[in-house]
Amino acid sequence: MNILITGGAGYIGSHVAKQLLEFTSHKILILDNLSTGSKKTLKTLSLIRKFKFIKLDLKKFKKVDKVLQKNKIDTIIHFAASIVVPESVENPLKYYMNNTVNTTNLIKCATKNGVKKFIFSSTAAVYGEPEDMSTEGIDENYATKPINPYGMSKLMSERVLQDTALANSDFKFVIFRYFNVAGADINYKDEVLTPRIGQSFPNATHLIKIASECASGKREKMYIFGDDFATNDGTGVRDYIHVDDLASAHIKAIDYLEDNQSDIFNLGYGKGFSVKEVIETMKKVTEVEFKVEMISRRAGDPAILIANSSKVKSKMSWTPKCDNLELICKSAFEWESLRG
Ligand code: UD1
Repeated sequence: MNILITGGAGYIGSHVAKQLLEFTSHKILILDNLSTGSKKTLKTLSLIRKFKFIKLDLKKFKKVDKVLQKNKIDTIIHFAASIVVPESVENPLKYYMNNTVNTTNLIKCATKNGVKKFIFSSTAAVYGEPEDMSTEGIDENYATKPINPYGMSKLMSERVLQDTALANSDFKFVIFRYFNVAGADINYKDEVLTPRIGQSFPNATHLIKIASECASGKREKMYIFGDDFATNDGTGVRDYIHVDDLASAHIKAIDYLEDNQSDIFNLGYGKGFSVKEVIETMKKVTEVEFKVEMISRRAGDPAILIANSSKVKSKMSWTPKCDNLELICKSAFEWESLRG
């Protein structure tokens, strides 16, 4: 099978590429404009197995079409996107152009050139600020009410996919709504965890990334954004999922679409950890004490966001292997320390 991965030099895309190169024999073509993706990551991936890489921005519509005309692609796994929530509020058009418009063109080119399967990386941000978080977590039928352009740009792309599939019986999709993705490549050398790839994007805003930067001495201190939420310790609660578990669901989705209909799946563990718990876990696994300061809430942060992921477990037989906050923190820290 020929698989096209957009954004394959980025954080999540590279972990999916890694698993496809390691565990399958599919031919891989990566498209990336390298704006946030890393050349070094591509080099590391090429040590596993050969693949094709084209440096291309998805806004070059004609070139995207040419790539699809030339390479008989069966499946597209689409990651390339802008993902910083506060930036999406300041510069919404960047998000609607990069995320919604470019995705719409990619879907158009896909259907035109006979692509059969499309796997799309969406986000829990499509659910917005859930009011009545049930103890079972948010399932896929929960109302979608994004509270920022990032979430809306992804929800609009979801809709384009759904409508396109309705009108084209030989075009199927899987939409994954990610909860909080964290950690780095699980790779043991002499029984020591030595991630080969991880989050390289500068100016990252994610909690576990920031805590790992503090533990590795790259950052002097970090802030907790509010301790007045309606949670056990007052700090925000999220469902942190290891990037390798998240990636493995994408590999499953390729086979799933052979015999099943298009569908939407949450990806999380269904367990919540508070900001304080995450920071304590990072300090515990790294044995590093770092400064943490409490400040006021960050705009638009919901109190609790936990997935109900029973659908992907039952329908795709997806079985997480790294459902362990210590392992998530440790892998993020080892990656941060190794990459210098
Ligand atoms: C959000 C998006 C997610 C997106 C990600 C990228 C939603 C629902 N989710 O996740 O789809 O991929 O941003 O930016 O919009 N925190 C601190 N201090 C820090 C950093 C974070 O206290 O230095 C707290 C936050 O307030 C939050 C939790 O840690 O309670 C997690 O934050 P973060 O890692 O930024 O992810 P989300 O905002 O949940």
